Amino acid sequence: MTTALITGASSGIGAVYARRLAARGHDLVLVARATDRLDTLANELRDAHGVSIEVLTADLTDGQQLEPVLQRLRSETPIDILVNNAGAGLLGDFANADPAEMHKLLQLNVLAPTLLASAAIGGMVERGSGSIINIASVLALLPEYSHGIYAATKSYVLTLSQSLAAEVTKGVYIQAVLPAATRTEIYERAGGDISKIPDVMEVDDLVDAALNGFDRKELVTIPPVPDVVAWEAFEQARGTLAQGFSNSKPAARYRP
Ligand SMILES: NC(=O)c1ccc[n+]([C@@H]2O[C@H](COP(=O)([O-])OP(=O)(O)OC[C@H]3O[C@@H](n4cnc5c(N)ncnc54)[C@H](OP(=O)(O)O)[C@@H]3O)[C@@H](O)[C@H]2O)c1
Repeated sequence: MTTALITGASSGIGAVYARRLAARGHDLVLVARATDRLDTLANELRDAHGVSIEVLTADLTDGQQLEPVLQRLRSETPIDILVNNAGAGLLGDFANADPAEMHKLLQLNVLAPTLLASAAIGGMVERGSGSIINIASVLALLPEYSHGIYAATKSYVLTLSQSLAAEVTKGVYIQAVLPAATRTEIYERAGGDISKIPDVMEVDDLVDAALNGFDRKELVTIPPVPDVVAWEAFEQARGTLAQGFSNSKPAARYRP
């Protein structure tokens, strides 16, 4: 029996991961702030699938509340799958952003998933098995499409996933999932309006596709992209660009 720890399991993408992973027979550790929602989901999934479920209430922007979650990841009872999903948006442009709000977003979208992955990975490497699923966003590849720092936080999550995947081998699997607009509470929570966004994916479809990519052990899964060739071409272009990085002299166009 394997155990998955899911952050942000009280709604949206995280709640669907909880449902799908419980249906696959995994025990779960559900993390978020809304204990009542987590308890309701836990009871439903225990009854439906007979799995064992722990609920950990934590505001991941609070170091003291984050600590027990980190301890659970480091504990003797292993976590086999970490789903780094909790996250939020922040409307508004950079020039007018409230520094305190930006700080909170960085703690939730950047610092927490980093520390959680760090707490999980030691045991995974030791056991030679384990998976970390990081929920990024297509905005990581299209930052011009949104104002403020949200896209940059998601770009960090993608980059972290790519560097972890390059560094950690030996049975540990890393996946970055890049959803596009998906019908969840994230827009309303940030003060936005989802009805103004065209082409919204249903959250069940998003998670089912992401788990399909997980089963195929993809490093990067972008559910709405119709043809994987587009991603492969993007990666190939990155490789071509990188060939220039090892030149010890500036390129001719930059010489005086
Ligand atoms: N929906 C989209 O269009 C979309 C697109 C690309 C990427 N994503 C990413 O998908 C992930 C999940 O978001 P979602 O769309 O499912 O939104 P959501 O329905 O608002 O869910 C966000 C989850 O994160 C938890 N959370 C928020 N702040 C937290 C905090 N301070 N401490 C602990 N947990 C916290 C929330 O639970 P509590 O309120 O109970 O704490 C909730 O369970 C996020 O990382 C988001 O950036 C979403």
